[in-house]
Amino acid sequence: MGSLSGKAAIVTGASRGIGRAIAERLAAEGARVVVNYSNSAAAAEALAARIGGIAVRADVSQKQEVVEMFERAEGALGGLDIVVNNAGVALMKPLADFSDEEFERVFAVNARGAFYCCREAARRLRQDGRIVNISTGATVGGTAGGAVYCASKASVEQFTRALARELAPRRITVNTVSPGFTETDMFASLPHLADLAPKLTPLGRAGKPEEVAAVVAWLCSEDARWITGQNIQAGGGLTMT
Ligand SMILES: NC(=O)c1ccc[n+]([C@@H]2O[C@H](COP(=O)([O-])OP(=O)(O)OC[C@H]3O[C@@H](n4cnc5c(N)ncnc54)[C@H](OP(=O)(O)O)[C@@H]3O)[C@@H](O)[C@H]2O)c1
Repeated sequence: MGSLSGKAAIVTGASRGIGRAIAERLAAEGARVVVNYSNSAAAAEALAARIGGIAVRADVSQKQEVVEMFERAEGALGGLDIVVNNAGVALMKPLADFSDEEFERVFAVNARGAFYCCREAARRLRQDGRIVNISTGATVGGTAGGAVYCASKASVEQFTRALARELAPRRITVNTVSPGFTETDMFASLPHLADLAPKLTPLGRAGKPEEVAAVVAWLCSEDARWITGQNIQAGGGLTMT
């Protein structure tokens, strides 16, 4: 029996990259998983079929779509135990060059989307539930070109800290996982990262989505019941806090 046998989970942004690996790992541990996506329907449907989950389209920046996803998940799975807020977008460039629209787009998905999903999770999760918010190691040291992206992710880290205290009476743990350089489409879309990753990462390479997923799955397990309000750096030592 897996460590998450009988648990019901939503993973946002699970059609590709880190989210897909998290959905796969949670399912391998026995959870039933809602595979959320916004555009990649075919990839999400294929993953859901493979892991025995359910693909649900919802743009996390849209309140009503988030509410409907949670309602559907609860209805189909009979309740909810785990929410992983992974959906995210990255836009890296000097702050001076950011337009208002670009700022809004990054915050809409990374901050407002995480807010909507944290709020639904806080309202609905069963006792002993788990929330894992995905941030980035880039928030720690300051990153040129990363002001808006990192600011949006910093808000997610604050949701974790406050919610961990608010939900502790229900024994729901809330943690952040901050990946370092991780080989996904997002990583490939920022070509300079391939050179930087081995130089800046103490363990000498970019990470695999599965390596981040293993940390998330552990935080979702009963073994991690004593860990809450933390930001776990999952980046090969990229940031040491
Ligand atoms: N890769 C890295 O090096 C790295 C490092 C640190 C932190 N992170 C964080 O890790 C998370 C996953 O990153 P990744 O590298 O796996 O990204 P990715 O390969 O670009 O995949 C992004 C995922 O998020 C989904 N998504 C985007 N906007 C959405 C929205 N509005 N509503 C619902 N889903 C949405 C995408 O769905 P569709 O396929 O449907 O578009 C996709 O499944 C992000 O929060 C990112 O900021 C990544």
